[in-house]
Amino acid sequence: MNLKIAVLSGDGIGPEVILQAKKALYAIGVVFDHEFVFEDALIGAVAIEKTGNPLPEQTLNLCLNTDAILFGAVDDSKYDINSDSKLRPIQGLLKLRQALGLYANIRPIKPYNDLLDLSPLKRKIIEGVDFIIFREISGGSYFSEKKINKQGTLASDLCEYSEEEIIRISHLAFRTAQKRQKKVTLVDKASILETSRLWRKVVTEIGEGYPDVTLDFLFVDTAAMQIIINPKQFDVILTENLFGDILSDEASVITGSIGLLPSASLGNSNALFEPIHGSYPEAKRKNIANPIASILSAAMLLEHFGLQVESQRVYEAVHKAIELNVVTADLNPYSKFGTNEVGDFISNYILSKDDLYFKSDNVYIGQSTIV
Ligand code: IPM
Ligand code: MN
Repeated sequence: MNLKIAVLSGDGIGPEVILQAKKALYAIGVVFDHEFVFEDALIGAVAIEKTGNPLPEQTLNLCLNTDAILFGAVDDSKYDINSDSKLRPIQGLLKLRQALGLYANIRPIKPYNDLLDLSPLKRKIIEGVDFIIFREISGGSYFSEKKINKQGTLASDLCEYSEEEIIRISHLAFRTAQKRQKKVTLVDKASILETSRLWRKVVTEIGEGYPDVTLDFLFVDTAAMQIIINPKQFDVILTENLFGDILSDEASVITGSIGLLPSASLGNSNALFEPIHGSYPEAKRKNIANPIASILSAAMLLEHFGLQVESQRVYEAVHKAIELNVVTADLNPYSKFGTNEVGDFISNYILSKDDLYFKSDNVYIGQSTIV
């Protein structure tokens, strides 16, 4: 398969973690005879600095004419939310989501057995957890009208949803549930919000077309609690933009590190893959950021194009790295390995499962033979 992939590394740790994802994809290309052509483009703070625009036209055009987008992170402490600047790096991502019509952000939550003790939650609560959050990302308070009065003393963010916006992501969520444990949980605040009542009505109607899938409802406050006390009850969580943003960061705690979680953002004709962690500017160029979330985002990219065996190979390599403790300091504070070494290990394992490129004995004592 030939794929053209736009690479938007962005700010902070974005470039260094995305480099590891590219290495993994390159290795997959070699092993399975695919051609992945990468093209870099600017976004976020680096784009503001070089072009005055967080989403330069050239970047948008590239993204509109590519098969997939590999995205790192945007934001820089220079542009804190109180600054007067009208330009903010995160607008690059929000505008991109909007311009590409990306509406479903998919975030799988599944802890690794070897890492269960890293989570602050008890092992018996998180062992066996496996759910996916379907977060709507094209509407709601992120994109509806925003106002502030002249004095700067009164502000509002409208939260708007159309039936159409709810329908398209709901079908995706139900179809995914059909292939899993056949359960969709709609998270809302239907006791208070008109938009939530519309979500309930529309999702209930759509659910009737999927009689094999059970649909239940949770208010967002209860859902926030249930994710901590009984996360095993969930299969597919379907929710609106802001609730999904908050709940997915909360759910990442189950896996022990936000540095492990990938995501896919899908539209009708575009797809973007990104780690859910942010730009983490304090770690920039220190070779300490966990590249696994980015590498797994690349695995989701492969899966999106039907390359199941290939994506399995990436998952397997990531499992191996975790099993052999070839991980960054967020997973093992005594680790000798950094972003690059973890990325090398994973791409080498993809290339040669039979230890041709490294000897795990050497890896244990920090003398990897990786070149
Ligand atoms: C995320 C991020 C973004 C969001 C920001 C960077 C705009 O937090 O992808 O979860 O809120 O959607
Ligand atoms: Mn977020």
